[in-house]
Amino acid sequence: MMRERREERARYAAPAAAPRVFDCLSHAARIRVILRSQTRIGTKDARAGSFSAFESRSGGHVFQDPLWYKDAVFYELHVKAFCDSSGDGMGDFRGLTSKLDYLVELGIDCLWLLPMYPSPMRDDGYDISDYCAIHPNYGSFDDFRSFLAAAHERGLRVITELVLNHTSDQHPWFLESRSSRDNAKRDWYVWSDTDDRYAGVRRIFVDTELSNWAWDPVSKAYYWHRFFSQQPDLNFDHPEVREAIWKVMKFWLEVGVDGFRVDAVPYLIEREGTSCENLPETHDVLRELRRRVDEEFPGRVLLAEANMPPDEVRPYFGNDDEFHMSFHFPVMPRLFMALRLEDRKPLVEIIERTPPIPDGCQWGLFLRNHDELTLEMVSDSERAYMYDSYAVDPNERINLGIRRRLAPLLEGDLRRVQLLNGILMSLPGSPFLYYGDEIGMGDNVYLGDRNGVRTPMQWDGGWNAGFSSADPERLCQPLISNPIYGYQAVNVDAQERNSHSLLNWTRRLIQLRRSTKVFGRGTVQFLAPANHRVLAYVRKLGEEQILIVNNLSSAAQAVELDLSSVAGAIPVEMFGGSLFPRIGEQPYVLTLSPHTFYWFRLRWF
Ligand code: NOJ
Repeated sequence: MMRERREERARYAAPAAAPRVFDCLSHAARIRVILRSQTRIGTKDARAGSFSAFESRSGGHVFQDPLWYKDAVFYELHVKAFCDSSGDGMGDFRGLTSKLDYLVELGIDCLWLLPMYPSPMRDDGYDISDYCAIHPNYGSFDDFRSFLAAAHERGLRVITELVLNHTSDQHPWFLESRSSRDNAKRDWYVWSDTDDRYAGVRRIFVDTELSNWAWDPVSKAYYWHRFFSQQPDLNFDHPEVREAIWKVMKFWLEVGVDGFRVDAVPYLIEREGTSCENLPETHDVLRELRRRVDEEFPGRVLLAEANMPPDEVRPYFGNDDEFHMSFHFPVMPRLFMALRLEDRKPLVEIIERTPPIPDGCQWGLFLRNHDELTLEMVSDSERAYMYDSYAVDPNERINLGIRRRLAPLLEGDLRRVQLLNGILMSLPGSPFLYYGDEIGMGDNVYLGDRNGVRTPMQWDGGWNAGFSSADPERLCQPLISNPIYGYQAVNVDAQERNSHSLLNWTRRLIQLRRSTKVFGRGTVQFLAPANHRVLAYVRKLGEEQILIVNNLSSAAQAVELDLSSVAGAIPVEMFGGSLFPRIGEQPYVLTLSPHTFYWFRLRWF
C-alpha cells in the first residue's frame, strides 16, 4: 500500500513555501501574496471529457479524478488534540505533519481538519475571529503550508472547515457591525429591536441558549444566533457578506486545500413565518458558491453539514450544482438502534427512504464525530430508546444527543466496534473515521460541552501518551487515564505491535474497501431474509458484485438468503480469501457467530 501511495505521491508537486513574513501581513496583503504565488493550469469543466484527460493545478498539486471523493476514506481530526511538537500542551501543524505517515499507513485518503483559525474558542474554534489565518496555538501559516505540501506529497488530500453561517462576536466584522447602527457593516448581521421575530424557530444548543436572539448592550439591539450567543449569524441576504465568504473560500483554495466541510448550511437565510431552515434563498447562495468553485477550482469538494432527514438534505445536492457531498445524519443513530434492537429494520428503512442523488454526488457516512451523537432527527420515542440504551448516566447527554465515543458506546466490545465499522465501510457513501476511534479510544463525560470526545490522541503508553512533552496540567484537555480506555492500555504503539489489534484490523478493512470501487460507486440492494437479525445487501458496479452479510445479534444466527439472481457464483470471503459453496437456485444458508460479518466477492469460475 505504501508503494501505491508513493506512486500517487509522484503525481503531486509541492507548493512553494510561503515567505516567513507571511504571518505578519494583513488579510488583504496575504491574499495578494497567495494570488501572486499561485499558478493555475486548466480550468475546464470537471465533468467534460474523460477523467484521465482532466487535469488542473491549483495551490501546487495536481488532481487526476474530479470524483475522487466518491472512493475516499476520510479521517476527521482536531489539530489541537492530535500531536504537540512544541511542548506547550496544544497539538499543532508540525506535530500533525510528523504523524502523516501513520495516516497513510491507516489507508486514509483525505483529512478533515476541525477549525484551525484564530478564535476565542467559545465553541472550540467554530467561533472564528479571523478566517484567513492560523490559530497561533497551532503554529504559523508557514507550518500550515508545509503540512499541506507534506500531505499532498503523500497522496493525502485535506479539507478544512468553512464556518459561514456565523462568526465569533470578536470578529472585526461583528465589532464594526455592533459599533453603531449606521456602520457600513451594520447589515452584515441580523439585527432587531425586538426579540420576537422568527418566533418558533427551534433552538439547537438547548442546554445553553434560551433564545436565538441575544441582546447587544453596545448598539442596544438584538442579534440573531442559531448556536452560542457568542456566534452571531451573518446576514446572507447582504451581497457583501456573500462576496466576503467567497473571498475566504478563494483564499484557502488558492493556498491549496482540497475542499471544505461546510458548517451549518441550512440556517443561512431567515424569513418570517418559516422555520428559517432549508429556505430556497439558502440554496441560491450555495449554488452560487458552488458555481464559483467549479469555475475556478474544479476537483475541489464541498461537503454539507445539514443535519436533516434525507428528503430535506437531497436538495443540497441540487442537480449536482450545490454540494458534492453531504453527511447522511440519520443513518448514524439508526445503526446504533439496529444494533441494540438486533433488527435491521431501522437502518434499511432509512436507506430505502433516501432519495437517489446525482451521479457526481456522494453521501458521507460516519459512526461518531466531534459533536454529540445527535438525536435531533429521530422521533421522541426513538430518542428515549437511544438514551436508555446508550446514555443512562445524565452526564453522557448533551443537548439532544449523547456525548460519547464509539468504543465506550459499545461497552468496549471489539466485535460490535468491528461490526459497525464493517457496515460503515460497506454502505453506499464515503466513510468518515473520527480520530482515535481506530484504536478504540474512550471519552470523559465529565469534561464540559463536547470536550469529552476531543481528548488528546493516545500515541503510546509513555509521558502524556506521546501527545506532548508538556506538564500534564498544561494539556489542552486531560488525557483519558482510566484502566479500560486509558492511554497506558489503549494506544497506537501497543496496537501496532499486536497484529490482532483494532488498529491493524481497521487498516485491513480500509485496504479491502480500497481494493474496489464498488463500495464508493456501486448500487445497493437489500436482501429480505426471514431472520431480521441479519442485515444483508449486495453492492454492484458493472460486472463486480459484493455480498455483505452482518449479524446484528449477540447470539449466533443462521440465515437463508435468496441469491437465485446470482446463482452459479462462488462467494469469496474477502478478508481470508476462502471460497464458499457455489450459490444455487435454493436459499443460500449461512451461519454467523455473534456480531460478525462477511464480505464476499461474487466470482464466476
Ligand atoms: C456544527 C459543528 O459540528 C459544531 O461543533 C458547532 O458547534 C456548530 N456547528 C456551530 O458551528
